[in-house]
Amino acid sequence: MSFPAGFVWGAATAAHQLEGGNWNSDCWALEHAKPSFFAEPSADACDHAARYGDDIAVLAALGLNAYRFSIEWARVEPEEGAFSQPALDHYKRVIDACWSRNVQPVATFHHFTNPRWVTRDGGWNDDRFPDRFARYCDVAAGELAGELASACTINEINLPDSLGELMLRVKAKHPDRVAAAEQALGAPVESFFLFAGSETYARRASRAHVLARDAIKAAAPHVPVGMTMSIQECEAEPVETAQAAMRAYKQRVYAPYYELAKQDDFLGVQTYTRTLFGADGRASRRPPSGAEVTQMGYEYRPQALGAACRDAWAATRTPILVTESGIATKDDARRRAFIREALGSVAAAIADGVDIRGYVYWTLLDNFEWMSGYAPLFGLVGVDRRTQARAIKPSAVMLGQIARANSLDAGASEADFALSTSGAAVGLGVNG
Ligand code: BGC
Repeated sequence: MSFPAGFVWGAATAAHQLEGGNWNSDCWALEHAKPSFFAEPSADACDHAARYGDDIAVLAALGLNAYRFSIEWARVEPEEGAFSQPALDHYKRVIDACWSRNVQPVATFHHFTNPRWVTRDGGWNDDRFPDRFARYCDVAAGELAGELASACTINEINLPDSLGELMLRVKAKHPDRVAAAEQALGAPVESFFLFAGSETYARRASRAHVLARDAIKAAAPHVPVGMTMSIQECEAEPVETAQAAMRAYKQRVYAPYYELAKQDDFLGVQTYTRTLFGADGRASRRPPSGAEVTQMGYEYRPQALGAACRDAWAATRTPILVTESGIATKDDARRRAFIREALGSVAAAIADGVDIRGYVYWTLLDNFEWMSGYAPLFGLVGVDRRTQARAIKPSAVMLGQIARANSLDAGASEADFALSTSGAAVGLGVNG
């Protein structure tokens, strides 16, 4: 149950979900629309813009060796062509904080949010988008990429394709929210990433990825670059309509990006559950009856991770970095079981020849889960949002033990975790 030498062990975050005060982004505008698709505003989030040093110290003390974070375009280029040096300097300090604790910084250049000016012009549905994104990547990479361990261009580049049908239903059900969102954005709601699925999205997104990859490579040829994809385990009922629906789905949602990934240094795989295809020809994430369900309403399905890695590897032969895998639950014992089972499926895939270079858990801190607000708890570390105090969960300690040992044989005893919620087990106070 050992992992290959040099295996990457990390935790992931995204700027909008934990930095706080990302008011110049399209998502912030949507959160404040009345009525809104968002359960609550992101507000101060986890104040990570100020507390990143302590948070990275916790990650390092746990025993993890990588931190995946995102660079916020809305801060770096608040108006077209106007770049903010202090914003770039902030991310330099984040990178320095990682290296000072022997943590590899893995940066994502786009994680769902755009500056408001980009979205006002049509965002993901505007043909200027790829060049605009590339220009920002060029500037950000020129300042930051040389010091990165790896770079991800676009997070879950295929998510708009996979959300397409669901978002059509959501929009049809809530015309009042659509109207308020469009007023807040000054543009059609499809300009925002999560609603951007359309016939032409893949073309623009693919071009944005390729230009961004080239910009990062030009600045830092030695830094591995890839995109990340949302890849769930796919399973179809044993009837032709279901099988055909699954093939069509994979062809539309995965295949175009798998093709692109063949040119990249790695592919970021992000898996949360299983997608089922029924005889009615529809894709569904609705859990089978009797299945354990997470706070997100997903089926508890940790082994989906190994299945997704196998699918990606078979299609691309591009090395894989698991850039996200995680569970939203109040019960940390279920998180520990989920992590162990997901890692078991990764180890089995590696044993079968799948080239997986690392595992990055989503997420370091309980944070802003997009439209669901702060209720779902994905974090290894809890956050009291009134005081911003951090509380290390037993699952964090367990993952750190596995990481240090580079083996699933470590951290197996439940008794080890009884003391650890105070953070004592990693030698840190609750606030780092
Ligand atoms: C996203 C994260 C999100 C997570 C859990 C992924 O789709 O990259 O931003 O919080 O899933 O839902």
